[in-house]
Amino acid sequence: MMGHSSSTEGNEKANDACSPQFSVESVPARSLSSTLLRKGMTLNALVWPVKVPVNRRVEKRQRESRQDSEVMSQMTWHFIREGGAIIAMARTFRRVITEVSGQHFPVLALAGVCTHPHQRGRGLGRAVVWAAWSLLQADLHVCFFQTGVPAFYERMGARTVTNLICDSTGARGFWDPHAMIYPATAAWPAGELDLLGGGW
Ligand SMILES: CC(C)(COP(=O)(O)OP(=O)(O)OC[C@H]1O[C@@H](n2cnc3c(N)ncnc32)[C@H](O)[C@@H]1OP(=O)(O)O)[C@@H](O)C(=O)NCCC(=O)NCCS
Repeated sequence: MMGHSSSTEGNEKANDACSPQFSVESVPARSLSSTLLRKGMTLNALVWPVKVPVNRRVEKRQRESRQDSEVMSQMTWHFIREGGAIIAMARTFRRVITEVSGQHFPVLALAGVCTHPHQRGRGLGRAVVWAAWSLLQADLHVCFFQTGVPAFYERMGARTVTNLICDSTGARGFWDPHAMIYPATAAWPAGELDLLGGGW
């Protein structure tokens, strides 16, 4: 697919005369070659520079891929390649969270949305997010994520939620200043939420 994700809204945006020419690939994490893993981790390291070498990031992802966890079995990478590099990407996976009052429910977790600093403003970030959201379906109808750039997602139809968010497992919860859901119209509880695991 050129210039759009497989979502309906993405297609509408891509069908206008100024449609950019790029394709979003959506690939299960377990099927990623080590070359693609490396390209993705190289972009991640550029956008979020912490003192972890790309090699170590790739090894960590490969270890995770071998784990038989529910998260890994359902993780998908959405990415755009150009000039031999991954220049924009996002990851999605299914997570079950719970209202502190006890009601468990699944969400589509969205993580790692980024565009190469030299490639921003071309619609690439929006395209990988549309591809991610195209995975929403009847039994997984809401995407839940954290962000420091809520306006980027608001213009795509997401909204900020103000629940208190904790993680009873003691892992790192959410660390960005905003939590959001997509679509904005999705039913969403008002009370405190427990991520039941590390944030994403
Ligand atoms: C946020 C980010 C992914 C946007 O990528 P991008 O490829 O430049 O975005 P696009 O070109 O697809 O922009 C789509 C729209 O969002 C707008 N937009 C882009 N970045 C924005 C931001 N930081 N805040 C508000 N709006 C933004 C664009 O102006 C564009 O608007 P338009 O529809 O009116 O033309 C990119 O800036 C990035 O990688 N940032 C660093 C990592 C990060 O913060 N990721 C988000 C983690 S949740």
